Amino acid sequence: MLYDSVMPIPERLNPTFTSTGSPVPARSNRLEEARKRLIVALDVPDAASASALIARLEDNCQWFKVGLELFIAAGPSVLAPLLKRGHSIFLDLKFNDIPNTVAGAVRSAAALGARMITVHAAGGPSMLAAARAALDGLPNPPQLLAVTVLTSMDAAQLSAIGLERSPSQQVEWLARMGLAAGIRGFVCSPREVASLRALTGPEGVLVIPGIRPAGSATGDQKRIATPAEALRQGASFLVVGRPITQAPDPAEAAEAILKEMAEIL
Ligand code: C5P
Repeated sequence: MLYDSVMPIPERLNPTFTSTGSPVPARSNRLEEARKRLIVALDVPDAASASALIARLEDNCQWFKVGLELFIAAGPSVLAPLLKRGHSIFLDLKFNDIPNTVAGAVRSAAALGARMITVHAAGGPSMLAAARAALDGLPNPPQLLAVTVLTSMDAAQLSAIGLERSPSQQVEWLARMGLAAGIRGFVCSPREVASLRALTGPEGVLVIPGIRPAGSATGDQKRIATPAEALRQGASFLVVGRPITQAPDPAEAAEAILKEMAEIL
């Protein structure tokens, strides 16, 4: 069975499916629950811009994603103020290299205090297994997530790199491979959440970018959905960047998204 080697995933990392059977939470609790599931992507060019955004958002938001743009510009020290202020960090560097190199990168990322880290599922089963093994034995390991197909990719983009499967078929293919390699967390677009949820069962940690509140600009994202729709389909966490960070009032935008999420929870 695919799930034979499933490591139990800490409840706090997958809040979606821990309340099964419990009464519907009161409205304020639902907002609290929404906060636990919203990750703001800090796609900004330097530490000063990140600090300014965090200051505007931290009353409402507890998870922040540091990706390549900010990490390369500001270095690992950009994480320290976030940790000091009690925020949870998703370090989204999407490793894709030979197994030995990725294992080392995963160990280094874990030592920085991130609570979630990413590798590309396309790195293959040996690389995924090495990434997972690199976290074995750590006292408080981050959730390892395999990125399936980037939300910016559509069938034409996949075809251009020689993959003739549809995005959803490719996501499922990679997720099955990841599960067999012992991976229990995945990043996919809102369109594939339901099928991955069916594959992973309730333990799967499904982190979903490509979130666009109704009426907001799509940008370069192709496979998108609203916050409510992604949660309904079975998302554990939502990643939102530009709809919050480029809004005239980021705090107001985050609040509107949290309210939309709270309606579903
Ligand atoms: O601004 P936007 O909401 O599109 O930001 C989405 C974030 O999620 C970006 O930081 C991007 O790197 C990340 N991401 C993604 N698709 C993936 C994995 C991560 O868009 N498959």
